[in-house]
Amino acid sequence: MRQIELFQKGIEKEYIELPFKRFRDESFDFKEIPAGSGVYGIHPYPAMFHFLVVRKLLKEFSKRGELVLDPFMGSGVVGVECLISGRNFVGYDINPLAVLIAKVRTTPIKSNLLLQMLKHIIQDFKHQKPEFFEFDNLYYWFDKEVVKDLTRLRQSIFKIEDRIVKDFFKVAFSDTVRRVSKARYDEFKLVRKKESDSISVLKFFEETALKNIGLLTQFYENFPPTKTNLILEERDILNEIPLEDESVDLVITSPPYGDSRTTVAYGQFSKLPLRWLGIEKDVDKISLGAKIREIHYNLPSEILFEYIEKIAVEDERRAKEVFSYYEDLYSSIRIISRKVKKNGFVCFVVGNRKVKGVELPTDKISVDFFSAEGFEHQITIVREISRKRMPHKNSPSNIKGMKDETMKYEYIVILKKTS
Ligand SMILES: C[S@@+](CC[C@H](N)C(=O)[O-])C[C@H]1O[C@@H](n2cnc3c(N)ncnc32)[C@H](O)[C@@H]1O
Repeated sequence: MRQIELFQKGIEKEYIELPFKRFRDESFDFKEIPAGSGVYGIHPYPAMFHFLVVRKLLKEFSKRGELVLDPFMGSGVVGVECLISGRNFVGYDINPLAVLIAKVRTTPIKSNLLLQMLKHIIQDFKHQKPEFFEFDNLYYWFDKEVVKDLTRLRQSIFKIEDRIVKDFFKVAFSDTVRRVSKARYDEFKLVRKKESDSISVLKFFEETALKNIGLLTQFYENFPPTKTNLILEERDILNEIPLEDESVDLVITSPPYGDSRTTVAYGQFSKLPLRWLGIEKDVDKISLGAKIREIHYNLPSEILFEYIEKIAVEDERRAKEVFSYYEDLYSSIRIISRKVKKNGFVCFVVGNRKVKGVELPTDKISVDFFSAEGFEHQITIVREISRKRMPHKNSPSNIKGMKDETMKYEYIVILKKTS
């Protein structure tokens, strides 16, 4: 055991010395409180932050009025927490569904306005004649009758003029699409169910919309929104970001844990809702690590190449995939780093996934990448991930049926910009 100076305020913590300054801190687990509580119960999203972790990090590393950035914001947990704690926020994500969910969660609307509109949608639905609507494999994923009902519902929602109210109902519609499809609702990947269950489109939509109205209004009654600036945009972080250099006080973010072929398939999760919302974007083809490249020894992390060489002995292509993901991760870190003020902090939350049976120390590799950009590593907090939020088992060798324990923990890497 030894003491280290942990946070900016000089809080001293005891920790069991693990490699790479890792500190297993159970106070970050929040096992008893589901990550999907309150407003975070509006639409599921893979690998969502636990809001209490974000709340704790915001309190520790930022002050009211400061600017917080999440370049991989997903469903907008950091945005919501900034809104209720008086921090300004900028969030980006490449996935339009993520941005839609994040906007809805960060936009309090009066419940009577939403209830009135819901009534109107349900009435209007009954008078709608389904117009022609099609996309690739539509009838592989949906029954004929379901397609008709979803088309009518879509028509009723798309007629709403107020964009904010329309977005609110688009989110309930998206959840309905996932639930009434022939794909498994509880999987992030698109996997067809053995038997389709007959769920009424209108009934599920109405229940979901009512649930979401309750969650949104109650949350903001308990946690009144502050007057802060929130910017939420669909954007590929690798294409630069429209923020001044050295303008951000704190970054709290969690990049994808690996390429989406073998880790979390955000695109597959979002594909059917996006098609129904009229968006063709194939998110998995443009996420970090999607383009496979030749290996170059040009990234500032020795340990990364030790691991890449180990993988290459077994599987050359896998090694290239792994390299491509880390090359993109480094590019994103370079862009993010420039935006942070001197003495500002970054809380970079990663998962150490396994490839070919080898656990890749993404936390350590991230420390190497940030160190090359003028950051000093403070500590890495290790927390246990809730079983509901991420599958604990995946197929690390991409062999069907072969499962391995992975992603039991996530790593909150804390860094300070010193030069
Ligand atoms: C681990 S998730 C973030 C989840 C988020 N913390 C939450 O609470 O919902 C990673 C996110 O990165 C996004 N992403 C992947 N590649 C990206 C890129 N090049 N630019 C911006 N976002 C990207 C994915 O769409 C996904 O939403």
